[in-house]
Amino acid sequence: MEGKIPRYLLVFTLLALSGFIVLIGNITSLEDLNDQLTSNFYKIQSSIHSAFKHPKILLPAKVNHPYCAQFGQEPTAEEAKEERDLLNSIAWPGPAVQGLPLEVSSDPAKSYFMIHGPPRQHIGGQLVVSVHMQNFLGLPKKHGGDFLIARLHSPELGAGVAGKVHDHQDGNYIVIFPLLWVGVVWVQITMVHSSEAVVVLKRLQEEKPDRGVFKSMFRAGAASETTVCNLCLPLNQDPLCNYTDILTGEPWYCYKPKTLGCDARVTHFKADMKGNLITNYDAQFFQSGINLKVPIHSSGMGNVTVIPAEEGQIQVKNNQTASGYYYKNTWRPLKGQDMHQFNNATAITKCLRGKVVYMFGDSTIRQWFEYLTAVVPNLKQGNLYIPKSAGPYVAVDSKNNIMISFRCHGPPIFFTTLFTSELRYVANELDRIEGGPNTVILVSIGAHFNMYPIDIYIRRLRHIRRALLQLLKREPTTLVVIRSANMRKLNLQISLSNSDWFSQQQDTVLRAMFHGLNIHILDAWEMTLAHNLPHDLHPPRPIVRNMIDLILSQICHFEKT
Ligand SMILES: *[C@@H]1O[C@H](CO)[C@@H](O)[C@H](O)[C@H]1NC(C)=O
Ligand SMILES: *[C@@H]1O[C@H](CO)[C@@H](O)[C@H](O)[C@H]1NC(C)=O
Ligand SMILES: *[C@@H]1O[C@H](CO)[C@@H](O)[C@H](O)[C@H]1NC(C)=O
Ligand SMILES: *[C@@H]1O[C@H](CO)[C@@H](O)[C@H](O)[C@H]1NC(C)=O
Ligand SMILES: *[C@@H]1O[C@H](CO)[C@@H](O)[C@H](O)[C@H]1NC(C)=O
Repeated sequence: MEGKIPRYLLVFTLLALSGFIVLIGNITSLEDLNDQLTSNFYKIQSSIHSAFKHPKILLPAKVNHPYCAQFGQEPTAEEAKEERDLLNSIAWPGPAVQGLPLEVSSDPAKSYFMIHGPPRQHIGGQLVVSVHMQNFLGLPKKHGGDFLIARLHSPELGAGVAGKVHDHQDGNYIVIFPLLWVGVVWVQITMVHSSEAVVVLKRLQEEKPDRGVFKSMFRAGAASETTVCNLCLPLNQDPLCNYTDILTGEPWYCYKPKTLGCDARVTHFKADMKGNLITNYDAQFFQSGINLKVPIHSSGMGNVTVIPAEEGQIQVKNNQTASGYYYKNTWRPLKGQDMHQFNNATAITKCLRGKVVYMFGDSTIRQWFEYLTAVVPNLKQGNLYIPKSAGPYVAVDSKNNIMISFRCHGPPIFFTTLFTSELRYVANELDRIEGGPNTVILVSIGAHFNMYPIDIYIRRLRHIRRALLQLLKREPTTLVVIRSANMRKLNLQISLSNSDWFSQQQDTVLRAMFHGLNIHILDAWEMTLAHNLPHDLHPPRPIVRNMIDLILSQICHFEKT
């Protein structure tokens, strides 16, 4: 008996080993199959020169199955076309074969980047870096879809700029950085998610949009009840209360309380995240320190020395590749805006004198309100009966005729407890604003839409854009700034609800929808990516300060010096 066990063990071990070898063999061939399949859709581009072109054909955009299609207004033909184009523009490539073991997914530790060109390069040019993704077995990846971010920086100069990543869809990526200052610059490439992890995120977005649980409390006299709410709820089960906004048609529903009426709804709040969102298999692709926001190392040199321009050197139009960069920790915009520093309350007050500043959105714009009231003590804030952190807030400097305000956006705001009377849609608030040369409107909307399919976000932006364009038609001198989303610290749980990948998709949509309008986009994405401070849902104060300085510079229309 005792002697047999080791023999069985040996047999099992051999069997397991041979199975593993066969499996690995088949995986390699699956990757080849994947390759053959996808090569019908696009040519593998391996030459660096092609990095300057966009990949010609992306994987066909999945026909979107609109979430909550039975609710909300039908888009017009024009809106539907815009939506299709937007969805095509964010189509994300990925593995053609899914469900393979972790070993064949992207491993940042086995992947590497290479700097192209000489170790000394001229300012005004572009630095080209190629990234070569490999799996945990150390074999090259054959498909694209890894979510990479890139930064070029000089720590001792407080300088940094974001790079543009081009996916060649063959496991290789090209990153382009503008060379904007003289000195030693270091390349930093980070894999936020493997393409295999993005598959999981896409699935969650489509199949589990209700993973954040909202609730409302209903009250009448001594009786109170709490029920679950969301953008849409199953129609054929318990009775619903319909809180669809009459003006915008934005849907919102709660289960009807057992004893109380729908009009007894008092509060709105986030309850929790649903559990069991993904399997243990899926969770392997979200391991902190292994394949979640992990740096990729250089196979050789990790830096180049940027030297002054040569006589007669042809300048590359660097303003095409980045919206700005940090130098001495100060943001320098590249798209023709001015940037001044507002070092103290006096300077800020002088700039804001006679202005009304409206801030609408999420907690990232509340940070701006908090920054201004902290730095400018003469902006006095009343705080009677205001739920902490939810707002709305108002601060006034009556001597200098300044008013600033913050109000959060409407559902699906995933916030602390709000009174339903304070649940307002940004578009409706904008419709009530007169506008004019002394009015500034700041909007930030994104993070709370991370959990939903992107069409929900597109619809919301459409309503806000419509309201902004009407306001600008009434009062073209109104200053309007929209803040894009920013990177944040990620772990498994946060990735499932608020991954940077969701924000990146939204960011592309937001830029496209507001492009060419008299509406400024504050590039919080690049401002957090280019900075050396760690990513945070609420960017640290030095970044907020740069954002505020950028906005104040726009408000005050400084003369170019
Ligand atoms: C591996 O692939 C071969 C053909 O390429 C096939 O005959 C075999 O059944 C496969 N093995 C497994 C374990 O899938
Ligand atoms: C909810 O109300 C809106 C507008 O009042 C309406 O268009 C929609 O059909 C209603 N939803 C349901 C499920 O009845
Ligand atoms: C740049 O990188 C090279 C190679 O990795 C290294 O030897 C050199 O010290 C680096 N330069 C600076 C200024 O640190
Ligand atoms: C980019 O720079 C070029 C020349 O430096 C300028 O002509 C162009 O207007 C700039 N583009 C933008 C969008 O600012
Ligand atoms: C405030 O900042 C302005 C502009 O930087 C500067 O000229 C002024 O001296 C500062 N005032 C105080 C009181 O520090």
